[in-house]
Amino acid sequence: MRILMICTGNICRSPMAEGILQKKLKDNHLDNFVSVDSCGFEAFHLEEPPYYMAAKTAKKHGIDIEHQRQRLLSEEDFDTFDKIYVMDSYNYQCVKQISRNDEDMNKVDYLRNLVYPGKNQHVPDPWGGTEKDYEHAFQLIDEACDILIEKIKNKNLDSVI
Ligand code: 4NP
Repeated sequence: MRILMICTGNICRSPMAEGILQKKLKDNHLDNFVSVDSCGFEAFHLEEPPYYMAAKTAKKHGIDIEHQRQRLLSEEDFDTFDKIYVMDSYNYQCVKQISRNDEDMNKVDYLRNLVYPGKNQHVPDPWGGTEKDYEHAFQLIDEACDILIEKIKNKNLDSVI
């Protein structure tokens, strides 16, 4: 199974989400079975590493994300990935614009719906914010990824895919 994490810039939230889920997959010996990647929509930071405040926040929790490079969502991603998680409604609308059909959009959900199904709650964008904002985003993502790991472990894949 392949999972794609999406945010606006792909330098703050989705790189943390990729790093958090990757670590949890590895810790649970699920990394041979499930892979994770991330991308975004804004080209300002193309191929750059994650923003230093996101990298610093992840590092504080023992997660190294500095090897990641920014990239943009493409149509082919809908073929490559089984499940696509967005951080907010702006991301959802951007994904919808790039999607080709309903089948593509059936793969897309809000990451926080893993915690509060159907509520479409956001992981607020920490870009331009304080260390506290980055930590808050990290915790919201971490909580959702714990639930995702439990679903994968329990082979409750219908509710993931
Ligand atoms: P992210 O935050 O979506 O969490 O990566 C942002 C980073 C950069 C920009 C927007 C959001 N930007 O417009 O450059």
